[in-house]
Amino acid sequence: MLQNKVAIVTGGTRGIGFAVVRTFLQNGAKVALFGSRQETVDKALAQLRAENADWPVVGMSPDLTDYAAVEAAVKAVCEKFGRVDILVNNAGISAREPLYAYDPAAFSNIMDLNVKAVFNGCRAVAPIMKAQGGGAIVNTSSMVSLYGQPAGVGYPASKFAVNGMTKSLARELGPDNIRVNAVAPGVTRTDMVAALPKDMVERISAPIPLRRVGEPQEVANAFLFLASDMASYITGTILSVDGAAMN
Ligand SMILES: NC(=O)c1ccc[n+]([C@@H]2O[C@H](COP(=O)([O-])OP(=O)(O)OC[C@H]3O[C@@H](n4cnc5c(N)ncnc54)[C@H](O)[C@@H]3O)[C@@H](O)[C@H]2O)c1
Repeated sequence: MLQNKVAIVTGGTRGIGFAVVRTFLQNGAKVALFGSRQETVDKALAQLRAENADWPVVGMSPDLTDYAAVEAAVKAVCEKFGRVDILVNNAGISAREPLYAYDPAAFSNIMDLNVKAVFNGCRAVAPIMKAQGGGAIVNTSSMVSLYGQPAGVGYPASKFAVNGMTKSLARELGPDNIRVNAVAPGVTRTDMVAALPKDMVERISAPIPLRRVGEPQEVANAFLFLASDMASYITGTILSVDGAAMN
């Protein structure tokens, strides 16, 4: 589905991002994964190369909150693979602190990565995609972007902002044939969820109509669809992948 496409995936070292990287590679893309530390980037690359030594994948660790660093990394991907067709803005951190204990610096940190880094990525790739005749940006939102959550206000606020950027940039960049969509996962079995006791995962799953948490692969499939030409007339959409948890 992504033959001859070049993709950048931020937060690609583990969890949902890693599943997206592997799925894109399985579907013929060349992929640059960005992670927070070179050590975890190298570990992810080793894991992928052990699976298939021929996969065209590289990894970098730019500070995503620093525009100049993101621009330089995107330029390096262009030099390596010749173009950029797909950007997945996936790196993100969450928060659970009640407002009464919320450190204002922590609010800024979450906005810097979950919101400003998404802007930085879009800002850096859009001119390249425009010059190439088009592209696809897929952002990672969350089910909390629809209804909020009872603590940790910075996290839902950041994901509401991601939805706002997704819908606004879809309108702005549509004339340049750049599609901008988001995937809004529900509770997904990443390392954090996998480490929870079984009975806690069962409690989390009980109110979800599909009665289970999502698998990273199920979320990655939505990214594959939105990034591919199968979604050529879809832009400005927030696609929920949450077992109807929030519907
Ligand atoms: N796991 C879930 O249940 C769930 C649900 C809804 C939305 N999400 C969203 O999915 C995305 C990925 O989440 P996950 O659960 O796979 O997370 P994870 O913690 O397993 O992975 C996070 C990724 O982000 C990267 N990252 C973290 N801080 C960074 C920084 N400062 N600079 C650059 N990269 C950084 C890490 O390297 C890692 O690759 C996030 O945007 C998250 O908000 C996750």
